[in-house]
Amino acid sequence: MQVFSDISQTQNLCQKWRDKGESISFVPTMGCLHAGHLSLIEKAKSLADHVVVSIFVNPLQFDNANDLLKYPDTLDEDISKLAEVNVGLVFVPDVSSFYPEGESNVKQIELGEISTLLEGAQRPGHFAGVATVVKRLFDLIQPNVAVFGEKDFQQLMVIKQLVEKFSFDIEIVGMPTLRELDGLAMSSRNIRLSENERKKAPEIYRQLTSVKAAINAGSTDFIELERTTCRNLSSVGFIPDYVAIREMGTLLPAQNHNKSMVILIAARLGQIRLIDNIRI
Ligand code: PAJ
Repeated sequence: MQVFSDISQTQNLCQKWRDKGESISFVPTMGCLHAGHLSLIEKAKSLADHVVVSIFVNPLQFDNANDLLKYPDTLDEDISKLAEVNVGLVFVPDVSSFYPEGESNVKQIELGEISTLLEGAQRPGHFAGVATVVKRLFDLIQPNVAVFGEKDFQQLMVIKQLVEKFSFDIEIVGMPTLRELDGLAMSSRNIRLSENERKKAPEIYRQLTSVKAAINAGSTDFIELERTTCRNLSSVGFIPDYVAIREMGTLLPAQNHNKSMVILIAARLGQIRLIDNIRI
């Protein structure tokens, strides 16, 4: 396994593979790897000759300076985990070489309405930051396939829009959310939960499954369901940012006749903001 922080070395190796007619799959991450990330990597391995994983805590997508500062850094452990699963190349750039023009001078990519809803509304500039880093990574690595998690459902949709907007010849593959045994979606932020918060955290998934069950059983008052779920979360100590029942393709508020929906929750527990979703 190669571990490069250098952009040219990364570009050259990827180019060498492409010149030999070998395919590349790509999994971008911000490190602090858990089994959810590893499931994307396993999928990526099954899809191409070489797997590239990037580890880069992208400052552009953090609207909260404290969240960026506290983002866990476990690089040595991450690299050992990646060596075990036989990744071809790990790309670990530093901020100044990745954004040589300086973070505040980077021309950011704005996408359509989908990036302004939900997470986009709660975290202004977040998706522009995600789109900007992922575009740069795609330009550099030029993978045939890139694998993303449905855990960040809206992000996956934003990436699909990015690929369309810039006509990237890259297949985007979405993978289901990996959960702890109690239902909590795996996340790099979970290790920052206190013992007490960790016990409460699976309530988000319990609420998601109970809203899903209510809709499957015929409930049609989505606004009331959203309100009740917010109240339920607040009553056990969360501060919900949103509980949203949305049409799956547009992420606009769901209507009764919609065939496919997704329920999305973002809620804070102490200092930690958790997001999760479930499809119907
Ligand atoms: P990060 O949060 O590290 O996530 C990297 C990838 O892992 C994303 O595609 C995310 O959806 C996926 N993932 C996270 N938790 C998961 C889980 N429990 N099950 C399955 N997949 C999971 O998302 C980012 O980084 C960044 O925004 C990035 C795309 C790298 C751009 O900076």
